[in-house]
Amino acid sequence: MELNGRKPVIALVGATGLVGSTFRKVLEERKFPYEKAYMFASEKSAGSTIQFDGQDYVVQLLDENAFEGKGIDIALFSAGGATSEKFAPVAAAAGAVVIDNSSQWRMDPDVPLVVPEVNPDDAFEAFAKKNIIANPNCSTIQAVVPLKALQDKYGIKRIVYSTYQAVAGTGMKGIKSLEEGLKGNDIFIAYAHPIANNVLPHIDSFLENGYTKEEMKMVDETHKILGDYNIGVTATAVRVPVFVSHSESINVEFEKAFGDIQEVKDLLTAAPGIVLRDDPANNVYPLAREAAGTDDVYVGRIRRDFSVASGVNFWCVADNVRKGAATNAVQIAELLVNGRK
Ligand code: A2P
Repeated sequence: MELNGRKPVIALVGATGLVGSTFRKVLEERKFPYEKAYMFASEKSAGSTIQFDGQDYVVQLLDENAFEGKGIDIALFSAGGATSEKFAPVAAAAGAVVIDNSSQWRMDPDVPLVVPEVNPDDAFEAFAKKNIIANPNCSTIQAVVPLKALQDKYGIKRIVYSTYQAVAGTGMKGIKSLEEGLKGNDIFIAYAHPIANNVLPHIDSFLENGYTKEEMKMVDETHKILGDYNIGVTATAVRVPVFVSHSESINVEFEKAFGDIQEVKDLLTAAPGIVLRDDPANNVYPLAREAAGTDDVYVGRIRRDFSVASGVNFWCVADNVRKGAATNAVQIAELLVNGRK
C-alpha cells in the first residue's frame, strides 16, 4: 500500500469483543507501527473507554459516517458477518483496506482469502478489487499452514479433517457457557446442549447436505487458499469443553511418494509458522494448553497412513483466537505495510 514513508492510520471494528481485544494485544506485542488508531463498536459499548498501547480510547459508534475524514488506511473488522456485510464496503469506499475476520466475504471471488505463510501475494490483489481481504475460518488457518508445505513437495489428493474446537471460537458467550457449565449451571446462550463434560458434533448451523456450515467452510476455504479445487476435502467439526485452542486430526493423501517419515517431519520443521512437537516416547505432542497464548501452529503425531499408497496422519493445534483470528489478521496488515517480498 502507498504510505510514502508514513505510518498507517488504523481502525478496529468490534474493538471491545474477544477477537477485538486480542487485536489490541497482538498489535501491541508485535509493535505494529501506526500513526493513529480508532476504536469502533455498537451502541452497547460506544462511549466507554478501552485501553490500547498504553492509552485510553473512547469507543466510537460504528455508523455510515464513522470512517469519513479520518484517513484510515487499515480497518481490522471482527464484529460479525452482518456488520461486515454492511460496513466493510463503507470503510473501503472511504479509502481503507479492510481485513475482515467474519465469514461474510471469504468466498467472494473479488476478495482474497489470505494466510500469510501460505498465499501472501494474494493479499495485494485486494487493491485492484474491493479493498477487502478476508481472514479465513480459524480451523482452516491452522490446517493450511502445514498443508501448504506438504502440497508444495508432494501434491495433495485428499484431506480428511476432524476437529476438536474450543469454546473461545464462539466468543464471550461460548466461554461463559463452559464456565457456568463447569459450576453445574448449564446455560444455553451458545450451544444446543450443555458443553461442560460433553462433546458436540455440531458447529454453526446444519445445511441440506448433512454437513454443518463450519465443515463446509473448511472444505471451501481450503480449496481457495491452496488454489487447487481438485483436492478432495471432507470434514467433521466438533466442539469440545476446552476454553482456548483448536486441535485437529488431519489425514492427507499425497500425489507423490515420500521416503522416510522423518523427511515429512523435517519438511514441516523448516516451514514458516510451525513448531514441531513430535516425541511420543516422551509424551511430547501438541497440546491445547501449550498453544494457548502463542502465535504458532503446533504439529505432531506425524505418522504414515498405511491404508493408502502415500499419505500421513498428524495432529495440529493452535490458539484459535490468536493465529486463528487476530494474529493472522495483524500479519496480513504487516504484509501490506511491509510490501511484497
Ligand atoms: P459491543 O461491545 O458494542 O457489543 P464478541 O465476538 O466477543 O461477541 O464481540 C463482538 C464485537 O462486535 C464487539 O466489539 C461488539 O461491540 C461488536 N459489534 C457487534 N455488533 C456490532 C454492530 N452492529 N456495530 C458495531 N460493532 C458491533
